[in-house]
Amino acid sequence: MRATYLLDTVGPVRSRRGAQVELNKLSGTAVITGASSGIGAAYALELARRGLRPVLVARRQGLLEEVAARIHQVTGVTCEIWKADLSRRHQVEEVAVKLEAIPDLSMLVNNAGLGLVGKFDCTDAATHAGTLELHVVAPTLLSRAALPGMLMRGCGAIVFTASVAAFFWLPDNVNYCTTKAFDVMLADCLAQEVRGTGVAVQALCPGFVRTEFHDRLGPEWERIRRLPRSLWLSPEQVVAASLAGLERDRPLVVTGLPYRLLAALGRQPLLHPALRAATRIWHRRTACP
Ligand SMILES: NC(=O)c1ccc[n+]([C@@H]2O[C@H](COP(=O)([O-])OP(=O)(O)OC[C@H]3O[C@@H](n4cnc5c(N)ncnc54)[C@H](OP(=O)(O)O)[C@@H]3O)[C@@H](O)[C@H]2O)c1
Repeated sequence: MRATYLLDTVGPVRSRRGAQVELNKLSGTAVITGASSGIGAAYALELARRGLRPVLVARRQGLLEEVAARIHQVTGVTCEIWKADLSRRHQVEEVAVKLEAIPDLSMLVNNAGLGLVGKFDCTDAATHAGTLELHVVAPTLLSRAALPGMLMRGCGAIVFTASVAAFFWLPDNVNYCTTKAFDVMLADCLAQEVRGTGVAVQALCPGFVRTEFHDRLGPEWERIRRLPRSLWLSPEQVVAASLAGLERDRPLVVTGLPYRLLAALGRQPLLHPALRAATRIWHRRTACP
């Protein structure tokens, strides 16, 4: 397990030092957004295993209840459920108020997200705005609500599930790439700001993960599933890498060796013209009609 952690977190993408979290000493409540499936559900289960009390946030009440029941069955921990649509500002604000009131909040995982594909000008304005609320406004306001208590107690962790897409310029993914790049920058800036306070901040950047994420893109994107197995990780592997990253003081975690190499290349400005050209060629070959 230790070797897996190393492979998942130590790579060519070097992190700047943040705050190390001793997860076995964390207790209390953990709020996980996007916990009704995929990475969020796996995160909630793992935190419950480690003795934290998860609050599960998402829109689908039925699935949230199923996740809570499974967590209870496996760990004996009872989860709280907050049904909320985080693409709607007033619901984000309601969640923020409840978050602020948790006296023992030790972790916030800003994980709720959706893939948005399609030509920028063909996607309606409301969809663009909703994704900005979900990927940009919600993580910002929820972190703003969580941080004062964590700083006062001198411990805690905030994770932003971004994406390896944050390092690239993918046609037909303009909104997704830019909002995920915002999450990486937000995490990085915040990690520097809270350095030395006992609060850790991390941008978690997965590559392809086997979740519902790609099902939601529509059947024409089914071909993505045929990409080599070596490019796919399980939600549990992503969560293990994130938690190991917190324990190892890594504010940036890119999961999986191919993606760490890609992200390392994506962060070299001299290579950008060649990478942009390669991206366009790859896109032309794989784009849906
Ligand atoms: N899977 C990948 O390949 C991959 C790669 C890189 C990054 N990511 C990122 O990882 C995160 C988790 O995705 P996943 O792969 O686990 O996919 P997933 O299984 O589809 O999970 C997405 C989660 O976000 C929630 N969500 C979506 N829109 C929401 C809204 N408006 N309000 C509240 N919750 C909302 C969903 O719950 P409800 O539908 O019940 O609301 C669900 O729990 C996302 O931020 C995604 O961008 C995924």
